[in-house]
Amino acid sequence: MKFTVPAGTNPIDQMKVVGKPLDRIDGPLKTTGTAPYAYEQHKLVPNAAVGYVVGASIPKGRITRIDSSAVKAAPGVIAVVTYENAGKIGKGNFNTARLLAGPEVQHYHQAVAVVVAETFEQARAAATLLKIDYAKQDGAYDLAKAKGSAVKPAEKDQPDSGIGNFERGFANAPVKLDATYTTPDQSHAMMEPHASVAYWEGPKLTVYTSNQMINWGKKDLAKTLGIPEENVRMVSPYVGGGFGGKLFLRSEALLAALGSRAAGRPVKVALQRALLMNNTTHRPATIQRIRIGATREGRITAIAHESWSGDLPGGQPETAVQQTRLLYAGADRMTRLRLARLDLPEANAMRAPGEAPGMMCLEIAVDELAEKLGMDPVMLRIVNDTTTDPENPGKKFSQRRFVECLRQGADRFGWNKRSATPGKTRDGRWLVGMGVASAFRNNLVMKSAARVRLARDGAITVETDMTDIGTGSYTIIAQTAAEMMGVPIDRVTVKLGDSDFPISAGSGGQWGANSSTAGVYAACVKLREAAAARLGLDPTNAEFVDGSVRAGGRSVPLRQAAEAGELVGEDTMEYGGDIDKKWQQSTFGAHFVEVGVDVATAEIRVRRMLAVCAAGRILNPKAARSQVIGAMTMGVGGAIMEDLVVDKRLGFFVNHDLAGYEVPVHADIPHQEVIFLDESDPMSSPMKAKGVGELGLCGVGAAVANAIYNATGIRVRDYPVTLDKLL
Ligand code: MOS
Repeated sequence: MKFTVPAGTNPIDQMKVVGKPLDRIDGPLKTTGTAPYAYEQHKLVPNAAVGYVVGASIPKGRITRIDSSAVKAAPGVIAVVTYENAGKIGKGNFNTARLLAGPEVQHYHQAVAVVVAETFEQARAAATLLKIDYAKQDGAYDLAKAKGSAVKPAEKDQPDSGIGNFERGFANAPVKLDATYTTPDQSHAMMEPHASVAYWEGPKLTVYTSNQMINWGKKDLAKTLGIPEENVRMVSPYVGGGFGGKLFLRSEALLAALGSRAAGRPVKVALQRALLMNNTTHRPATIQRIRIGATREGRITAIAHESWSGDLPGGQPETAVQQTRLLYAGADRMTRLRLARLDLPEANAMRAPGEAPGMMCLEIAVDELAEKLGMDPVMLRIVNDTTTDPENPGKKFSQRRFVECLRQGADRFGWNKRSATPGKTRDGRWLVGMGVASAFRNNLVMKSAARVRLARDGAITVETDMTDIGTGSYTIIAQTAAEMMGVPIDRVTVKLGDSDFPISAGSGGQWGANSSTAGVYAACVKLREAAAARLGLDPTNAEFVDGSVRAGGRSVPLRQAAEAGELVGEDTMEYGGDIDKKWQQSTFGAHFVEVGVDVATAEIRVRRMLAVCAAGRILNPKAARSQVIGAMTMGVGGAIMEDLVVDKRLGFFVNHDLAGYEVPVHADIPHQEVIFLDESDPMSSPMKAKGVGELGLCGVGAAVANAIYNATGIRVRDYPVTLDKLL
C-alpha cells in the first residue's frame, strides 16, 4: 500500500484500543525473567559451546604474528578463530571498522580472535594464552588537535547549508552571541551487552542475536561472510536496550558464526562488558561553535552552527547542526559539518544522533542569548517560532505546536517563580535553579511490512521482523491489529524479530512505532478485504467491531471468515512521492528542569523534571511516557555524568565498563512529569503518529545545564557539567 497524504479517516481513528495506556503484553515475561534474550536462546540450541572475544591491545597498526598453540592445548578448547583461519571476511554496508581485525588493526579492542571452549571459564582462561605480536603505528586521538585538518564530509545530505548571508547579517545584528561548546564521546551503555548464539545446518546459518534492525543485520552478516542472504536467518525477539548500539551487525554475531563453523557446533558469544565500549561504537565527541545575532527585541536575524567530530576513514560526522536548520526563525543562516580523521573506535549513531548533542549546545546558546537580551528564555523561544522550514520557506511543518509546549510547560512547572538573576535562590545548603530548553527531533518514516493471520478460532497473529528494544512494539502492534480487526487485544498474538517474517522498519531513529504499526495497518486492510470477501460482505463499507463484521445490515462473527481455513493478509506500507518535499515532519517539545547545587561541595542534584511533547498521535500513553522518562534520565546522564574519557596518548576509552562510565541510577532521578499534547498528524502515516523516544532526550542536557547556571551563575560550556567545573 502506498501512503497518500493526508491520511483519510480510517479504523484507527476509533481509538478503542489504540491510544489506551495498556500494560505491556510482554511485561509478565520480562518481570519474571522468562523472556528469552539472545544469550538465553541456547536453551533452544543444545550443546552450544562458548566463545570469548579477544580485542586488539593496540589502537592502530598491524598484526605481525599470531601464536595460538598454547590456546589450542588448554583444557576445553575447541577452536580458535583469527583472520588467518577465518576465510575471506568482507565488510557490511553499515559498519565503518571491520568486525574482525587482521592483519590491519584499525582501533583498540577491535576483535582479533574468538576462543571457543566447552565453558566460559575455559574460554576465558585459554584466551590469556594467545600470543599476538603487533607493529604499532601512530594515530590521531585528540579531536581538538585534529580539528584543524577536519574536512567537509562527502555525504550528499550533509552539505554546508544556508540561506541569506550569515556573515553580513551577523555583523549587522545589534546583539550577538559567539560561543563554543563541547560534548564528550558517549557510550550506549545498554543493560544487555551484544550477544549471539549461532549454528549452521549445512550452508544455512541461524543467529539468535540482539539487534534493532533484523534485515540490515541479516544482509550484512551474509555480505561479511560472503554467503547468500537467503542462507541467513536472524532472530531477535527481545532486546535489552540498544540506543543505536545495536542498529548494525557487531563483532559478536560474526564471531559466533565463525566460531560455530570452526567448532562444528552451536556457539554463543556475549561480548564482554569490558570490551564493549572500545570494540563496538559510540557517539563521537563534538566541538560546536554557535553564533546568533538578534534585534534588541529578541528576534533572531542571523544564526550559524558549526560542528566538528571525528571518525575512522569511511566514517560519518555527528550531524549536530541538523536542528539548527529547522528550529528557529531568522533570515541569514549557515550550518556546517566538518569531519576529522581519528583512530579511535568507530563513531556512529546513538539515540537521536545529531540532535542529541546538537541540542545540548544550541539550547545553552539560546539561554546565553536570552541573558544578553535581558529576556525570559521561554519568551525568546516563542518569539522565534516559525511555521515554515526556515531554509525552504515554501515548505510548511506538517504540525508544529512548539509554542504550546513551551507555554503549557512554563505554566505547569511554575516558571514564573524562577529568579532571572542567577545564584539568588537558596533552600538550606542548596542553591536552586530552573532551566528550560526546547525539544526537537525530526520525524522519519520507513517502509514496513507485516503479515496478519486469522485462525479458525478467530485468533489473530501478527508476524513482522520488527524489534522491541524495550519500547513497547509488541503492545502497540497488538493494539493496532485489535483496532483494525475489531477484536479484544487478548485475541492478538504478536511475533517479532525473525528474518523469516516480512521486513519491517525496525527500531531506529524514533521511526519504529509509527512506521511498524503502519505496516500492520496495511496488512490488516488486506485481511479485512479477504475476510469480507469470504463472508460475502462489501469490503468497502464493512465494519469490524466486537468480534463481528457488519455490512449491509448483516453482522457475522469474524471467525466465520476462517471457518474454511486460515486467512492471511500481508502488505507493506510504503512512502515516497513528494511528502518530504511538501511537508517538513518534526516532533517538538519543551523540557523544564530544577536543580540544586550544594553551596559547599557543588554536588548537583536534579530536583524536578517536566517534558511537554507534541509528537502526533500517542499510540499508548503509558509506553510513550516510559520512553520519554527514560530519555529524560539519559539526558541527565549526558548533562552531568556521561563521558568516555580518551587516553590521547594510547588511543582508547579508559573507562570502558559500567563501573567507570557513569550513568544515572534511580536515586539520581526525581519525580518526572510528561505531558503529551493531544494531536494527530495526518501527514505522517495512517496511524497519524510520530516518534517520541528520541524527542524525549533532545534538549534535556541543556535544560539541566541552564538550571545549573541559574542556580550558580557559573556557565559551563563543556559537557558533562561535573562539580569540579563549578568550584
Ligand atoms: Mo537510533 S541511534 O537510530 O537507535
